[in-house]
Amino acid sequence: MVPLFALLAGGDALTNVRTWTRDGKHPERGRALPEAADSERTMTTDLHIRGLSGALGAEISGLDFSRPLSDAARASLLAAFHRYGVLCIRDQKLTRDSHIALAKLFGTPDVHPIAMGMAEHPEVIEVRKPAGERASFGTSWHSDNSFFERPSSVTILYGDSVPAVGGDTVYASMERAWELLSEPLKQFLMPLRAIHSARTAFDPRTTGIEKYEGRAAIQYAYSDAIYEEVEHPVVRTHPVTGRKSLYVNPMFTQQIVGLSKAESDGLLAMLHDLSTRPELTCRLRWEDGTVAIWDNRWLQHYAIDDYADFERLMFRVTIAGERPV
Ligand code: SIN
Repeated sequence: MVPLFALLAGGDALTNVRTWTRDGKHPERGRALPEAADSERTMTTDLHIRGLSGALGAEISGLDFSRPLSDAARASLLAAFHRYGVLCIRDQKLTRDSHIALAKLFGTPDVHPIAMGMAEHPEVIEVRKPAGERASFGTSWHSDNSFFERPSSVTILYGDSVPAVGGDTVYASMERAWELLSEPLKQFLMPLRAIHSARTAFDPRTTGIEKYEGRAAIQYAYSDAIYEEVEHPVVRTHPVTGRKSLYVNPMFTQQIVGLSKAESDGLLAMLHDLSTRPELTCRLRWEDGTVAIWDNRWLQHYAIDDYADFERLMFRVTIAGERPV
C-alpha cells in the first residue's frame, strides 16, 4: 500500500479527483483546505466530489466498497479525506467484513473498552436506536474516543437503516476554529494540555444503567476505563497534513491542566462556542447505504437526536490513532 505521506507529497492523487459544486465553482474558499491541484476543476473518470459546505465535508460518487478499490481510487479517496475531513459515500452495501476491510485502508481498527463490539466482529459497534426511544450515543459535540491515550484517528460509520428524516450528523472543523483565534490567545493555548475522560459520558448514572445490564439495544461494559484520565495537548498538529487544530470537546474534555476549574470551564465554554459556529460546520443527511468517513483529529461531530419515533441502525468502526502532539 502507498504510504499517506507519499500520496500527499506527490499530488497525483488530487488530479484523480473531479471537484465541483452545484454552481460549477470550486468549493474551497477557506484557508484550511489545501488549494486544488492546478485549476478550478480537476477531472478524471474516477470520482465526483461535491462539497457539503464551505468549511468541510464532501459527498463522493464513483466508489463501490463491495469490491476492492483500484490503486487510483484508493489514492483519490485518501487525498479527498485529507482535504475535506468528512466524506459521504452513498448507495453502498457493506457487510461487517467489507466494512472492516474498508476501515483497514485507514489503519488498524480499535476495540472499544466500553461500548461493546459485535460478538463475531469486536471491532464493529452496532449503534442501534430503537423506535420510541431517545438516542444517546454521540448526541453532543465530541471527537471519537479522545479519552483514549491514542484517540481514534478515523471513524467509518455505515447507515444500514435510517429514518426518512432526522438523525443527521453535524461536523465542525477544529482547524477553522484554531485559525479564527487571535494571535495572543493562540500563544496562550499552544503549550496547554487538557484532561480527557469518559467519566461524564459513560457514567451509568448519566448514560443509563440498562446499557450495562444488557437491557438496551447498545451494550456497554463496566470497568475502570470509564474513569481513567489522559492528558492531550489543547492544540494538536495533524500527523499527515501538518495542519494545526484545537483538540478539546465538550463530551470528553474535563479540564485544562494548570488552570483553576472556573478558568478552565470559562475558556472551554468559549472554545466550544467558537468551534461549533454554523460557518465551521457541515451537516450529513443519512440514507440507507450511506458510508461516512471522518477524521477525528481535526473534526468534532454531533449526532442529532430528533427522530424518537423511528429506528436508526448504524455500524461503526474506529481506527487506532497516534498520541496527539
Ligand atoms: C458517533 O458519535 O460516532 C455516532 C455518530 C452518529 O450516530 O451519527
